[in-house]
Amino acid sequence: MVSTPLTTDEVRAYIAKNRDRHLSNKVLHAHPSPAYWSSEFSESALAQCLAHTPDKQDRINLYLGIPYCLPTDPPHCGFCLFPTERYAGKDTATDYLGLMAKESDLYRSVYEGAVIESLYVGGGTPNLLHPSDYQVLIDIAPRLFPTMYHAIENSVECFPQLFNEDKIHAIKDAGFNRVSMGVQQVDDALIQLSGRKQTRKQVFEAIDAFQRHSLACNIDLIYGWPEQTVENMLADLRDIVASGISHITHYEMNIAGRSDFATKQKAKVPTISEKLTMYREAHAFLTSEGFVQETVYDWAKPNATRTDSGLCPAQYAYEANMRDALLEDGARYMGGLGYAAINSRPNKLRAGSFMNHRGLDRYADDVHAGRFPVERAFFHEDEDLRLCWVFQQLQAMRLDTTAFFNLFGRSVFVDYQTVIDELIDIGWAQVTPNGVIELRGTGPFYVPLIQGLFSQARLKQLTGPRTSIPLHVQ
Ligand SMILES: C[S@@+](CC[C@H](N)C(=O)[O-])C[C@H]1O[C@@H](n2cnc3c(N)ncnc32)[C@H](O)[C@@H]1O
Ligand code: SF4
Repeated sequence: MVSTPLTTDEVRAYIAKNRDRHLSNKVLHAHPSPAYWSSEFSESALAQCLAHTPDKQDRINLYLGIPYCLPTDPPHCGFCLFPTERYAGKDTATDYLGLMAKESDLYRSVYEGAVIESLYVGGGTPNLLHPSDYQVLIDIAPRLFPTMYHAIENSVECFPQLFNEDKIHAIKDAGFNRVSMGVQQVDDALIQLSGRKQTRKQVFEAIDAFQRHSLACNIDLIYGWPEQTVENMLADLRDIVASGISHITHYEMNIAGRSDFATKQKAKVPTISEKLTMYREAHAFLTSEGFVQETVYDWAKPNATRTDSGLCPAQYAYEANMRDALLEDGARYMGGLGYAAINSRPNKLRAGSFMNHRGLDRYADDVHAGRFPVERAFFHEDEDLRLCWVFQQLQAMRLDTTAFFNLFGRSVFVDYQTVIDELIDIGWAQVTPNGVIELRGTGPFYVPLIQGLFSQARLKQLTGPRTSIPLHVQ
């Protein structure tokens, strides 16, 4: 049953209540958040969802999760909301790669005949691995996609403190062609608030090494960090841009859960209006430097010189593909393997999203027993699929009403009339002559709120735990 649209009063009340609150940016999970996914999912629904072998035109974007991180004080870098585990040495990590390879074998028939479009190794901290592990890691993908084309984007996430020449050689030689380095803050004093021992020198030495080895590189920065000023933020952006980087993810800090930043350091976190100023200043600076805003947080410099592997370093195909998951003649799947990995399967028979275990023991027990190591799942009704698509479009600060109609046979103006009218009224959106609702002014900054508005009516219908799930379960 389709949910009843919000009234104009409800839309206004929602905006008034939330515009001065720190909201989480639903970067990866789209709709609904994992708080609505259930560990008591139906095994037969999961089997149905997995039974649908992707059609030939379907594309798989494969994610491999590495759970390990260095310990910090405060824990989890003070801010991190991703599930992670303490690194327990090379042997444990090597055993874990064996487990992921074994898990991949469970998916052999599921992906038979499908094509891989990109590979992303995330975490955690994948560059904690030993140089000899990277070949083993990347070789998991061709177990499922034997004709894998090596020039696809093969990204690995990393942490600035953990590089040396041997490791960069090993990453490149194994076939990775892109690194995404989580810098967060360049400033030595500010980064220390997270308990990381990272230095500015390590950051620029790593960037220099990636450039020498012709690896495409993205840098993650965060604004809204405790004690951060607009000047600090601009200084970091200036230095990163000057180093020749052509893709920057400039995330707003997600203040949530029981992280140190959300509790002990909360008083030092910039206010919403300060963050809004940061957003505007970053926008003006990056635009003046020739960067183009691809999403609320992705900034790319077009025409960047291609690397040896033919990759354009300004591109981030894994994420761009997942923003375009529903195609008129097929779909894109996020295929996750490993600890806490997420799978998203927008197939027409039984669409579902599910997350692997966030406890290494439970993950290992299931894999050894030949079971899919799924911890929680959500199966999408048609309205949820539409909302997933809307969320991804909003991430790119737009909503193409014609594409919505072509995909779903419905009018976005009918389904979300009150929301769209109000967004236009308050200057957060406008409709272009070719029927694209574009976010404007401060609209893009408020995307998490706007996503919340679109999904409110449906969320009221959903039953589920509705509490945030504890991310660190050990
Ligand atoms: C899962 S982390 C992995 C990268 C690597 N371990 C590191 O931290 O350098 C991926 C990125 O998510 C972003 N991130 C993690 N927690 C966040 C938060 N609470 N708010 C905003 N961004 C966050 C960070 O920019 C980080 O680089
Ligand atoms: S920010 Fe990166 S290094 Fe820190 S806990 Fe999260 S995943 Fe680990």
